[in-house]
Amino acid sequence: MAGDAAADSIIWTDDFLIGIGELDYEHRGLIAEINELHLELRGQAGQARIADTLGRIFARLQAHFALEEHVMAERHYPHFDEHKAEHDRLIDTYTEHMVKFRDTPNPGDRDALETVLRQWIVNHILNSDKKMSLLVASGGP
Ligand SMILES: [Fe+2]
Ligand SMILES: [Fe+2]
Repeated sequence: MAGDAAADSIIWTDDFLIGIGELDYEHRGLIAEINELHLELRGQAGQARIADTLGRIFARLQAHFALEEHVMAERHYPHFDEHKAEHDRLIDTYTEHMVKFRDTPNPGDRDALETVLRQWIVNHILNSDKKMSLLVASGGP
Protein backbone atom coordinates (compact mmCIF):
# COMPACT_ATOMS: atom_id res chain seq x y z
CA MET A 1 0.00 0.00 0.00
CA ALA A 2 1.32 3.43 0.87
CA GLY A 3 5.04 2.59 0.96
CA ASP A 4 6.15 2.41 4.58
CA ALA A 5 9.92 2.40 4.25
CA ALA A 6 11.27 5.93 4.49
CA ALA A 7 13.62 5.23 1.58
CA ASP A 8 10.84 4.40 -0.88
CA SER A 9 8.74 6.64 -3.01
CA ILE A 10 5.03 6.52 -2.25
CA ILE A 11 3.32 4.13 -4.63
CA TRP A 12 -0.07 5.37 -5.75
CA THR A 13 -2.65 2.61 -5.39
CA ASP A 14 -6.44 2.48 -5.30
CA ASP A 15 -6.16 2.64 -1.49
CA PHE A 16 -5.76 6.38 -1.93
CA LEU A 17 -8.98 6.82 -3.87
CA ILE A 18 -11.71 8.54 -1.89
CA GLY A 19 -14.30 8.46 -4.67
CA ILE A 20 -14.60 12.19 -5.38
CA GLY A 21 -12.99 12.61 -8.79
CA GLU A 22 -11.63 16.13 -8.56
CA LEU A 23 -10.09 15.48 -5.14
CA ASP A 24 -8.62 12.13 -6.18
CA TYR A 25 -7.02 13.84 -9.15
CA GLU A 26 -5.40 16.43 -6.90
CA HIS A 27 -4.28 13.88 -4.32
CA ARG A 28 -2.54 12.01 -7.08
CA GLY A 29 -0.74 15.15 -8.24
CA LEU A 30 0.22 16.00 -4.68
CA ILE A 31 1.73 12.59 -4.09
CA ALA A 32 3.65 12.77 -7.38
CA GLU A 33 5.13 16.06 -6.25
CA ILE A 34 5.94 14.70 -2.77
CA ASN A 35 7.79 11.85 -4.50
CA GLU A 36 9.72 14.35 -6.56
CA LEU A 37 10.74 16.17 -3.40
CA HIS A 38 11.66 12.85 -1.82
CA LEU A 39 14.08 12.09 -4.66
CA GLU A 40 15.56 15.57 -4.44
CA LEU A 41 16.07 15.26 -0.68
CA ARG A 42 17.57 11.80 -0.96
CA GLY A 43 19.64 12.74 -4.00
CA GLN A 44 21.13 15.71 -2.17
CA ALA A 45 19.72 18.24 -4.63
CA GLY A 46 20.76 21.82 -3.96
CA GLN A 47 19.03 24.08 -1.49
CA ALA A 48 17.51 26.34 -4.17
CA ARG A 49 15.98 23.51 -6.14
CA ILE A 50 14.43 21.96 -3.03
CA ALA A 51 13.12 25.36 -1.94
CA ASP A 52 11.41 25.69 -5.34
CA THR A 53 9.77 22.31 -5.00
CA LEU A 54 8.67 23.15 -1.46
CA GLY A 55 7.05 26.33 -2.76
CA ARG A 56 5.20 24.44 -5.49
CA ILE A 57 3.92 21.87 -2.99
CA PHE A 58 2.82 24.66 -0.67
CA ALA A 59 0.78 26.33 -3.43
CA ARG A 60 -0.70 22.99 -4.42
CA LEU A 61 -1.63 22.17 -0.83
CA GLN A 62 -3.33 25.52 -0.30
CA ALA A 63 -5.33 25.21 -3.52
CA HIS A 64 -6.24 21.62 -2.70
CA PHE A 65 -7.45 22.40 0.81
CA ALA A 66 -9.52 25.30 -0.52
CA LEU A 67 -11.21 23.05 -3.10
CA GLU A 68 -11.78 20.28 -0.57
CA GLU A 69 -13.28 22.70 1.93
CA HIS A 70 -15.56 23.99 -0.82
CA VAL A 71 -16.69 20.43 -1.59
CA MET A 72 -17.27 19.71 2.11
CA ALA A 73 -19.30 22.88 2.60
CA GLU A 74 -21.36 22.23 -0.51
CA ARG A 75 -22.18 18.71 0.67
CA HIS A 76 -22.83 19.84 4.26
CA TYR A 77 -20.14 17.66 5.81
CA PRO A 78 -20.99 17.58 9.55
CA HIS A 79 -17.32 17.49 10.67
CA PHE A 80 -16.30 20.41 8.49
CA ASP A 81 -14.74 22.49 11.30
CA GLU A 82 -12.65 19.62 12.61
CA HIS A 83 -11.44 18.73 9.11
CA LYS A 84 -10.62 22.32 8.25
CA ALA A 85 -8.70 22.67 11.53
CA GLU A 86 -6.59 19.69 10.46
CA HIS A 87 -5.85 21.39 7.13
CA ASP A 88 -4.89 24.59 8.95
CA ARG A 89 -2.55 22.70 11.26
CA LEU A 90 -0.95 20.96 8.28
CA ILE A 91 -0.37 24.27 6.53
CA ASP A 92 1.09 25.79 9.72
CA THR A 93 3.48 22.90 10.28
CA TYR A 94 4.44 22.76 6.63
CA THR A 95 5.12 26.52 6.57
CA GLU A 96 7.25 26.24 9.68
CA HIS A 97 9.41 23.52 8.12
CA MET A 98 9.59 25.27 4.76
CA VAL A 99 10.75 28.57 6.27
CA LYS A 100 13.23 26.84 8.54
CA PHE A 101 14.64 24.87 5.64
CA ARG A 102 15.03 28.07 3.61
CA ASP A 103 16.43 30.33 6.32
CA THR A 104 18.36 28.20 8.78
CA PRO A 105 18.91 24.78 7.22
CA ASN A 106 20.52 22.01 9.21
CA PRO A 107 21.04 18.33 8.38
CA GLY A 108 17.99 17.18 10.37
CA ASP A 109 15.63 19.31 8.29
CA ARG A 110 15.50 16.89 5.38
CA ASP A 111 14.25 14.11 7.63
CA ALA A 112 11.75 16.39 9.34
CA LEU A 113 10.32 17.43 5.98
CA GLU A 114 9.97 13.82 4.95
CA THR A 115 8.11 13.04 8.14
CA VAL A 116 5.66 15.90 7.78
CA LEU A 117 4.88 15.29 4.15
CA ARG A 118 4.95 11.56 3.89
CA GLN A 119 3.35 10.57 7.15
CA TRP A 120 1.05 13.41 7.96
CA ILE A 121 -0.32 14.31 4.56
CA VAL A 122 -0.61 10.70 3.42
CA ASN A 123 -2.35 9.75 6.67
CA HIS A 124 -4.68 12.69 6.24
CA ILE A 125 -5.78 11.44 2.82
CA LEU A 126 -6.13 7.82 3.93
CA ASN A 127 -8.01 8.63 7.13
CA SER A 128 -9.66 12.05 7.30
CA ASP A 129 -10.38 12.55 3.60
CA LYS A 130 -11.68 9.03 3.24
CA LYS A 131 -13.91 9.37 6.31
CA MET A 132 -15.28 12.59 4.85
CA SER A 133 -16.01 11.14 1.41
CA LEU A 134 -17.74 8.07 2.87
CA LEU A 135 -20.05 10.25 4.89
CA VAL A 136 -20.89 12.76 2.19
CA ALA A 137 -21.40 9.93 -0.32
CA SER A 138 -23.91 8.26 1.99
CA GLY A 139 -25.95 11.45 2.06
CA GLY A 140 -24.71 12.82 5.37
CA PRO A 141 -25.99 12.29 8.90
FE1 LIG B 1 -7.36 16.07 0.55
FE1 LIG C 1 -8.58 16.99 3.83
